[in-house]
Amino acid sequence: MKVDVLLGLQWGDEGKGKIVDVVTPDYDIIARFQGGPNAGHTLIFEGHKQVLHTIPSGIFRKNTMNVIGNGVVIDPVTLKSEIEAIEAKGVDVSKNLLISRKAHLILPTHKILDKFSEESKGKKKIGSTLKGIGPTYMDKTGRNGLRMGDTENPKFKEKYQQLVEKHQRILGDYDYQNILTETENAWFEALDFLKNIELIDSEHYLNNAISEGKKVLAEGAQGTLLDIDFGTYPFVTSSNTITAGTCTGLGVAPNKIGDVIGIFKAYCTRVGSGPFLTELDDEVGQRIREIGHEYGATTGRDRRCGWIDLPALKYACMVNGATKLSMMKADVLDSFDTIKVCTHYEVEGKRIDYLPYDINDLDIQPVYKEIRGWNTDLTTLRDLKDAPKEFLDYIAYLEAELSVPISIVSVGPDREQTIIK
Ligand code: GDP
Ligand code: IMO
Ligand code: MG
Repeated sequence: MKVDVLLGLQWGDEGKGKIVDVVTPDYDIIARFQGGPNAGHTLIFEGHKQVLHTIPSGIFRKNTMNVIGNGVVIDPVTLKSEIEAIEAKGVDVSKNLLISRKAHLILPTHKILDKFSEESKGKKKIGSTLKGIGPTYMDKTGRNGLRMGDTENPKFKEKYQQLVEKHQRILGDYDYQNILTETENAWFEALDFLKNIELIDSEHYLNNAISEGKKVLAEGAQGTLLDIDFGTYPFVTSSNTITAGTCTGLGVAPNKIGDVIGIFKAYCTRVGSGPFLTELDDEVGQRIREIGHEYGATTGRDRRCGWIDLPALKYACMVNGATKLSMMKADVLDSFDTIKVCTHYEVEGKRIDYLPYDINDLDIQPVYKEIRGWNTDLTTLRDLKDAPKEFLDYIAYLEAELSVPISIVSVGPDREQTIIK
């Protein structure tokens, strides 16, 4: 069996959590491969709402194992509160969650370093979620990090102290001592609590499962345009959010990758700083934000809203090798008479159809095609044969432009509001 991958094609928050939850009954294992508690994946079903940050979105379905892979960075405090919230809904998390020994730990000082880094950048700040993601991945690649497996080592406290001292040298006279004192005890308590969850060598576990014919779905966090290599650098996160991140984040070889399901919204959003060529800094953007409830699932910040951007989406399909697409939140555009689609950009009088390298510095104007809206309530639609023509035309147009079939259409936040073609 091959590993299917489900990931975001825009700047995150496309609705990955919802679709993973919907398709989980088709899989034996759901595995997160990168990111950490910067993610916020929302699941809504049977009147419940749950936002997941570190735990894979298959956790509410019986008979599915959930794996936090080596590519993920873990804040024990966030993970503990997630587990407690899920257990309060009657799920015995210790039975269907496994954690890779090689997943790196976010220390309290990593979060302080994140804040310190953002403050020192001033106006050029990334708009980080301040969950300690960047500093933790820096320690990973700098070969200083602590991993979940280290908690099994009797010298763990010593190793922890050494890393904290390194951080303290960087922080110098920055005012951090109070935050550290307030958060350190809870961090160790949470680590103790996590002893209920089994640590595994997840690369062996997953490859054995694949050999036994089990079906695995890799769940991405963030989105392609936040990828450390291919996103709008430096306004990105610190991991590879693209399909290739599955290979390094789970220990699965490239020839074991099956379908790649790319998720996008029928429009576009972004949280935090950085270029967003089709952003609508006007009442139309505000209208999308209100109808789509576009407020961050992790930080509560307003999400910036704008029209769909085809050159960026084509790029995302290319670097991910998307084989299927899932279009989300079309219902948010139900009351729009016209919808715009960015087909090209104009730079210094020239028309281009790709994301230029110096996107942060150039004056780039989006070129739009205007499309007639469907002016119909889609939220009760369950079969595309009942869909208005304008909506079917929109789907067909996007499929033709992106050269990838749209196989899932989502028309509301609930599990039930999903059409699988
Ligand atoms: P993720 O990070 O990709 O999992 O996405 P988030 O959970 O951060 O953000 C997606 C938001 O849109 C959540 O509030 C979902 O409940 C909601 N949502 C998902 N799909 C749909 C949809 O088709 N229509 C509407 N109106 N809301 C949706
Ligand atoms: P999900 O998985 C949307 C953004 C932050 C910031 C940048 C860097 O829910 O789609 P970081 O905390 O990683 O240092 O922040 O990336 N960001 C996200 N935006 N959805 C996410 O995750 C995000 N995770 C990080 O807002 O601009
Ligand atoms: Mg999110």
